[in-house]
Amino acid sequence: MQDLIDEQINLYAERYSSDEPPLLAEINAFTQANHPHAHMLSGRLQGRFLSMISRLLQPAYILEIGTFTGYSALCLAEGLQASGSLHTIEIRKEDASTAEKFFKRSVYGDQIRLHLGEAAGIIPQLPFTWDLVFIDADKTGYLEYYELVLPRLRKGGLILADNVLFHGQVLESEITGKNAKAIHAFNEHVKADKRVDTSLLTLRDGLLLIRKN
Ligand SMILES: C[S@@+](CC[C@H](N)C(=O)[O-])C[C@H]1O[C@@H](n2cnc3c(N)ncnc32)[C@H](O)[C@@H]1O
Repeated sequence: MQDLIDEQINLYAERYSSDEPPLLAEINAFTQANHPHAHMLSGRLQGRFLSMISRLLQPAYILEIGTFTGYSALCLAEGLQASGSLHTIEIRKEDASTAEKFFKRSVYGDQIRLHLGEAAGIIPQLPFTWDLVFIDADKTGYLEYYELVLPRLRKGGLILADNVLFHGQVLESEITGKNAKAIHAFNEHVKADKRVDTSLLTLRDGLLLIRKN
């Protein structure tokens, strides 16, 4: 998998960003050592950014689509209001059970609800008005998740979508990969949507910030 950002720059940026809390460092190390798809984890730099955004927004309700081993959920939970909750959706039983174990050990454990199953089926069943949403599951589902979530996002609320540069494949003159095509179509769709403002950050694999007007 191609890394878009130069490794030295990335290391420098990590060095001058805050350290991960110990439990997050443990999830990161555990995932790197035990999971065949460890590259999917947000990582330290993006993780600190998610935490910073959440602490600025101080959300009452956070939705995450794509839990994996729980790393990004715990970053986002750092900004939750004391009475708030974070809902995270994961389709793979094994990853959900790994995440649950880490959630139980976290100070945010009681505020996190993990939903096991297909995101498109679960999102409409959650009766909340979202302040912050992180879309980070199957790339071909992004557009559907966006359209499901936007009407339930509060005015001024934020959607973050990960991997929107898709390893640079969105730059190909003729995009061939199924995931890159879906991501490019998603980026086009959101850019044309008058209901939102966007800022595409070249952080890691590309992070799209979408604010509801
Ligand atoms: C890129 S990983 C998420 C990484 C995580 N957010 C983090 O930063 O540590 C994507 C996750 O989405 C899950 N997923 C894929 N398709 C899904 C679907 N249709 N519904 C729910 N989860 C799905 C995958 O099993 C995987 O664990």
